Amino acid sequence: MKSYVLSAASAVAIIASNAAYAGPEAEVLHYWTSGGEARSVAVLQEEFAANGGTWTDMPVAGGGGDAAMTALRARVLSGNAPTAVQLKGPAIQEWYAEGVLADISAVAEAEGWADLLPASIAAHMQCDGTWCAAPVNVHRVDWIWANAEILSANGIEMPTTWEEFNAAAETLMAAGIIPLAHGGQAWQDATVFETVALGVGGPEFYQQALVNLDPEALTSDTMVAVFDQMRIMRGFVDPNFSGRDWNLATAMVMNGEAAFQIMGDWAKGEFIAGGQEPGVDFLCASTPGDGYLYNVDSFAMFAVEGEDKQAGQALLAELVMGQNFQEVFNLNKGSIPARTDVSLDAFDSCAQTSAADMASTSEAGTLLPSYAHGMALFGAQSGAITDVVTAHFNSDMTSQDAVQMLADAVANSM
Ligand code: GAL
Repeated sequence: MKSYVLSAASAVAIIASNAAYAGPEAEVLHYWTSGGEARSVAVLQEEFAANGGTWTDMPVAGGGGDAAMTALRARVLSGNAPTAVQLKGPAIQEWYAEGVLADISAVAEAEGWADLLPASIAAHMQCDGTWCAAPVNVHRVDWIWANAEILSANGIEMPTTWEEFNAAAETLMAAGIIPLAHGGQAWQDATVFETVALGVGGPEFYQQALVNLDPEALTSDTMVAVFDQMRIMRGFVDPNFSGRDWNLATAMVMNGEAAFQIMGDWAKGEFIAGGQEPGVDFLCASTPGDGYLYNVDSFAMFAVEGEDKQAGQALLAELVMGQNFQEVFNLNKGSIPARTDVSLDAFDSCAQTSAADMASTSEAGTLLPSYAHGMALFGAQSGAITDVVTAHFNSDMTSQDAVQMLADAVANSM
């Protein structure tokens, strides 16, 4: 048999290339830094490592992700994009349009994602027919969380109308109890605002005003009524609400300092992390009114050089949509799986309600994208709305002035 003697240069090249491929790796930018969030993202880190991956964590604190998105822009502009980023909704399309996302269709097609996801979720993960993001979960935004003991001690049921909410809050204030735990940050004001808009105006109004940006809906008497309710609720928060992180507001409900919090079900991740049980220590109910505001977290892979990173992206995409991750992560995170074939047997009553309501509202056409959490609009438009909402909440601006400012801000953002 003929023996081949490699030249020194070839030998070096082969050694170098073998040395170069050390295995899947990924630097992951995300903003899951609270107790419940950190426990959840640890599930992915552990699975990635168990599959030979090297995870470099890039957490950017700041609920809602505004700070994380600022960090992302800086990294991409400097030509040094992270391997994978917690990115969702229309922002995925915006980054795709910049030509900086990696195509993960090979994984998505091999794993049959098209058959495993509701069409509305799959649509957010696709860019011009390719797959450009991997969905992690379905969070519901329009929830009220309550301290069970406070409600029971004050003879209060979970409110099913905003009038009932206001009456309960008045009863609690008279008893010296903070009715509404709230963090005074723009994205949290926006979160409360969109649940009020959905409840006061209804799903059709929400769609017209906050998804279609219809000028008539934005300047309607209904929108005035939404800001009227926001003004009433401003009176239900404690004096130290400004700047409070969302999970510290959740902690106020957990420890009996306040009765209610209006927040997406990532708040449930905090109750769970604190060892509390739904129906026993805390209560969950959708905010008054019909409809369901969805918020789907996902990871987008950025176009990066290097076999290790590209292998890391393929592994991450596969794991994120894997059955085990979809169950274990969401049990910790407070959300429900994005995959439709994951059993909910291990999920609690709040998650069961969320899944049932997601199915029924999808059927009824009232399953709607959260504007406050980046599922409905591009950044310029959602930011314009949020600026007005938080300005109104933190001033004595009249509802009429807020409505006019809203219409102007949206028009100027186009
Ligand atoms: C949302 C995000 C959730 C949760 C929340 C608080 O935008 O989708 O996963 O992290 O912010 O940070």
